Amino acid sequence: MTTPAPPISNPALRKFAVIGNPVAHSRSPFIHEAFAAQTGVSLVYERLCAPLDNFAGTVKQFFDDGGVGLNVTVPFKEQAWQMAKDGLSERARVAGAVNTLWMQDGQLKGCNTDGIGLLNDLERQGQNPTGKRILLVGAGGAAKGVALPLLEAGCTKLHIVNRTVEKAMALHAAMTDAAPTYALSLSAGGLDSADGQWDIVINATSSSIDDKAPDLPGARFAPNALAYDMFYATRPTAFMRWAESAGAAHVCDGLGMLVGQAAVSFQIWNGVLPDVGPVLIALRAQLHANL
Ligand code: ATR
Repeated sequence: MTTPAPPISNPALRKFAVIGNPVAHSRSPFIHEAFAAQTGVSLVYERLCAPLDNFAGTVKQFFDDGGVGLNVTVPFKEQAWQMAKDGLSERARVAGAVNTLWMQDGQLKGCNTDGIGLLNDLERQGQNPTGKRILLVGAGGAAKGVALPLLEAGCTKLHIVNRTVEKAMALHAAMTDAAPTYALSLSAGGLDSADGQWDIVINATSSSIDDKAPDLPGARFAPNALAYDMFYATRPTAFMRWAESAGAAHVCDGLGMLVGQAAVSFQIWNGVLPDVGPVLIALRAQLHANL
């Protein structure tokens, strides 16, 4: 009697990937494998580097091959939004960017979990945005993903500032159109309009990549205020260092948001919300070990 050849792939394994270009640096496989171990879901999670000129074809192929879900990262979040525009969640529709894709009843669905990832991380740190005055620095994709969730969470004031003032005003106009209920809480301007006292200051710019902090003349921190950098690194970012010297009681980077947004994607795909805490600790340790 001959032994049958082992199957090439285990059909019980649900297939996921993070798609981007470049994508080699992505921590998503580590995070999702840790969630899977925690929840008992059987999955494979890979890195998928899509050619810059064929994002749509790569996505189609992934789902045609039986893939279940994709996380989308730089520079494809806007293209993912376009592809899923008939199946967007409300938050993705307003954000203009999608970081989570899946197929449902033959239709491509898209969500943006960045905002809820940030809110969950703020809550984890005891910093509920309700009733807070928030300064949001930046008007690119990162800022777009979190503006509406912050307003929905009940902040009393959300002031968006950006180096290029026109982009801050455009984001303000888009948010006012999409969610007029919050118009009175929302304002925008250049970096020089950051003066005032803030309960939470969020750096949604990419300045930390160059180890620089945005110039925020006149911005002051209220007692017990938090400075949150959506960027993360092995050591405090330039923004975190500036905030500490400017009197912020608490400073943190965006690693918790990264794990938090992944947890919500995992829940959308697998129906179970994993526990962020232990995975965040493991990821921080991995980062420090420089793995
Ligand atoms: P992302 O998707 O990460 O938001 P992006 O869309 O390219 O990336 O946006 C980058 C953001 O960082 C922008 O708000 C940019 O300001 P400009 O619109 O004026 O370019 C901001 N940014 C980058 N470096 C900065 C710096 N050194 N100081 C202040 N803002 C900076």
